[in-house]
This record gives sequence, C-alpha cells and structure tokens, in this order.
Amino acid sequence: MGEFNDVLAKTIDESKQGEALSKNILSHKPIQKHFYIESYGCAMNFSDSEIVASILSENGYGVTNDYFEADLILLNTCSIREKAEDTIRNRIQVFKKAKRKNKDLLVGVLGCMAERLKGKLLEEEKLVDMVVGPDAYRTLPALIAEAKGGQKAVNVLLSREETYAEINPVRLNQNGITAFISIMRGCDNMCSFCVVPFTRGRERSRDPETIVNETRDLVNKGYKEVTLLGQNVDSYKWKNEAGEIETTFAQLLEKVALVDPNLRVRFSTSHPKDITDDVLHTVAKYDNVCNYIHLPVQSGSSVVLERMNRTYTREWYLERVEAIRRIIPDCGISADVITGFCGETEEDHQETLSLMEIVKYDMSYMFYYSERPGTLAARKYEDDVPLEVKKKRLAEVIKLQNQHSLEGNKRDIGKVHTVLVERFSKKSENDLCGRNDQYKMVVFPQKNHQPGDYVDVLITDCTGGTLIGEAVN
Ligand code: SAH
Ligand code: SF4
Ligand code: F3S
Repeated sequence: MGEFNDVLAKTIDESKQGEALSKNILSHKPIQKHFYIESYGCAMNFSDSEIVASILSENGYGVTNDYFEADLILLNTCSIREKAEDTIRNRIQVFKKAKRKNKDLLVGVLGCMAERLKGKLLEEEKLVDMVVGPDAYRTLPALIAEAKGGQKAVNVLLSREETYAEINPVRLNQNGITAFISIMRGCDNMCSFCVVPFTRGRERSRDPETIVNETRDLVNKGYKEVTLLGQNVDSYKWKNEAGEIETTFAQLLEKVALVDPNLRVRFSTSHPKDITDDVLHTVAKYDNVCNYIHLPVQSGSSVVLERMNRTYTREWYLERVEAIRRIIPDCGISADVITGFCGETEEDHQETLSLMEIVKYDMSYMFYYSERPGTLAARKYEDDVPLEVKKKRLAEVIKLQNQHSLEGNKRDIGKVHTVLVERFSKKSENDLCGRNDQYKMVVFPQKNHQPGDYVDVLITDCTGGTLIGEAVN
C-alpha cells in the first residue's frame, strides 16, 4: 500500500504522538487509566490504531506519550518482511524496565504479527500479556480485564464481516489536515510472496454510507485531504441484500469526491489486474481527486510475475500504464518492486530495470525478497537467490529509480503546482511543506501561509525527493 507500505514502518515520534493524542482524544468516559501505542507497518495499521484508540477511549483510557506512566502499552505490528518482525522483537525488550517498575503494567501486541504468531508469541516473548489480531479489537476491553486477572489473553479470530464500520476513529496524527479512511479489510489475492492474506483474512468492503459520513465529519473538523485505504481498492464492492453490486470503487470514489470540492481525495493501493478505466475516468473527472496512482509492479518479468501469482503480465501492466497516461494527463505514478524473488535470473532482473525505463516512475518503494513462513512461495519455491545478489539487484533498482525521480522533478522546474500545506519543514522553521496533486513533496518559504492552506508554488529547484519553490499567491 504505497506510502502505505511499511515505508511508513517507522515509529511515530513518541513525544509528538502523545501531544497529538492528548489534544485529539475525545474521551466519552472519565479517564481512569492511560495507554501508550506505537504503530508499525502500512497505513492500514496506522488507521487501525485510531480504531483501537476510539475503543479504549470509550472504556476510560486516555493516552500518554510516556510509557513509564502507562497502564497499558500496545504495539501495532507488521509481518511483511522478516526485518519488520525483528524491529518489533527488539522494541518489546525496551519495555522491560517499565514493567519492572510497575508490576500491573500490561503489554499487548496487536496487528499482523499477533495474527501470524498467535499464542506462540506469548511463549517467545515473556513480556507480552495480550495478543490481539486485527479483527479482534472490539474485544480489547474484555482481554484487558482477563489479563489484569493474571491470565495471558489471546484473540486472533479473523472475521468475514468486521469492518469497524460505525466506529469513529480517534485521529492520532496531529496535523488535523490529512486523514486515512479504511474502506475495506483483508485481501483475497494470494500473491505467493505475501503474508497479508494470512494476517488480515478475507477481503470485505465497508458500507459506503459510513465512509461518506466519516468523510463529511472530517470536512466539518477542518480536514483537507483523505486517503481511502485498502490492500486492493479496485476490488472494493458493496452489495445489496440480493447480493448485487451496488457500489463499485469508481462509484465510491465519486461519492467521496462530491462531499466537498475543497477536499483532496487520494486512494491506495491499486492493483494492476483490477484497476478499471472507470476509476481512471473518475480521477480525471473530479479536480479534487488527486492525479496520482500507486500501482505496484513487483517485477518486470512475466515469468516471475506468474510465480508471484500476480495474475498479470508485463504487457498487461504496461497497457494499464498507457491507459493512465491517456486518460489522466499529468498523473503521478509510483510502484512497489521486489528484487531476488525465487528463481529470478539476471535476465528477469534486467526486465524489471527495462520496465522501469519505460514507465519512469516518479517514486518507488523497493525491497529485496524476504521469505515469509506459510506463504505459497515458502511452500512451493526455493528461496534460491543469494542475499548478496538480492541486495545488489536492489541497489541497481534504487539507483535507477533515484535517477528517474530526479529527472522527473527537474521537469517540474518552472511550473506552478498547487500545494496543500501539511506542516513546517523539518529542516527549517521558516519553510512550509506539503504535497502537490501528484504526491510530490514541495518545500517553500512560509511568508503569510499556514498549514492547511492551498498555495500555488512556482518550482525553482529540486532534489531527487523534493521540489523546492516560492509561493506565487
Ligand atoms: N496490497 C499491496 C501491497 C501490500 S504489501 C499490493 O498488492 O500492492 C506492500 C509491499 O511490500 C508489496 O507491494 C511488496 O512490494 C512488498 N512485499 C510484500 N511481501 C514481501 C516479501 N515477502 N518480501 C519483500 N517484499 C514484500
Ligand atoms: Fe499481498 Fe498481493 Fe494482497 Fe497486496 S494484493 S496484500 S501483495 S496478497
Ligand atoms: Fe500492513 Fe504489514 Fe500487516 S504491511 S497489512 S501491517 S503485514
């Protein structure tokens, strides 16, 4: 999921997170206890943490940014690559001291790693008191009560229906300008390398009315941008009681776009096998639907794509890119790429590089293959590309992408882009930054502008990752 992959796999800055939480949390009951939460992995996990925060706030929990003060420490975890799990195992150890200080402190592991390892996690990580899968968050209060009673608590049941549709998420990101909205859960695709279908269960779509209501609510609170989230948004479908499809993704996108013309709408992730011209025409039709599509390719070789069970070929993918270019002029395109998948030859790898040369992505999220236990690939294929080769190919992919990003950014010099200001630049307090329609980060001197403003910026310079400019309005 694009930005929404575990590129977001960074711990939220702890101090800022707490600040945000304490400001935003709408506690319906008096706060009696405090929880501390860290999120890892994709945007879906960050969005789920907001559902967890909502459920806990309804149960008398307020947030703290100091885990030494917490009664409950939660880690919302990711399993996508081995490294992601290693990070979390290391992180758990950090809470030892807090646990020694406060014997009543509970530590809970949520999310994908909880779902993958289930009760085994309790044996492996002695510090952990609760293991809660992504479809079991409504039972958190009961699990907390169980754990308080001295019993380790586990709920990793996956559901075919749960979408947390009516839960009003407590926003944990502090900017008050951009928000995620989950429109579906799970994934039915079974890409052979991927653990997500096992950790998130079957695909299910959320009632469109609740999505539109959540959007409206965000607009009323002053939000300026929403990102509709799903592992494969193009297969979103809401059915009526007779089982007929009532709302497709293209129709949902239109409904959300119509909520407010000043609200930017983004979505992620699109799947090359499912993205329809209808969706592309909807993006083109509405000014406030951003011209940016994250279209993971994974590999440029049809042979590898087949083994990956991606169910499209190189030619199919390139045709979809052509359709995007034809229907949405000026569309930003990004991808996910995996190097060194089982059986990948040097020739296959060259095909990935040549596909990148054809598409010239604005940006990519790039990884070397990490075998995940229980996946189709782990059972069927040998993880036979040596680590050095995986890494060497990854370095080549990254080098080429950096070149394309820089070339693409240079082409923007001299043009004016409308930027939604998100915050002050991390490097300078005199500069603001935000994204243009194509999702590129733009930095410019503040003058009289503020976070939340739409500002027209003339691009005067760039790096590979950022456009630099001057406000012109
Ligand atoms: N639903 C999204 C992807 C979710 S996972 C999609 O279909 O595109 C995000 C990215 O992580 C994937 O696109 C893939 O590039 C990468 N990824 C997933 N499993 C991986 C593995 N076992 N090793 C390395 N990268 C992996
Ligand atoms: Fe994983 Fe494929 Fe589903 Fe994406 S579409 S989450 S890569 S199985
Ligand atoms: Fe997301 Fe990681 Fe789970 S990428 S769906 S948090 S395995």
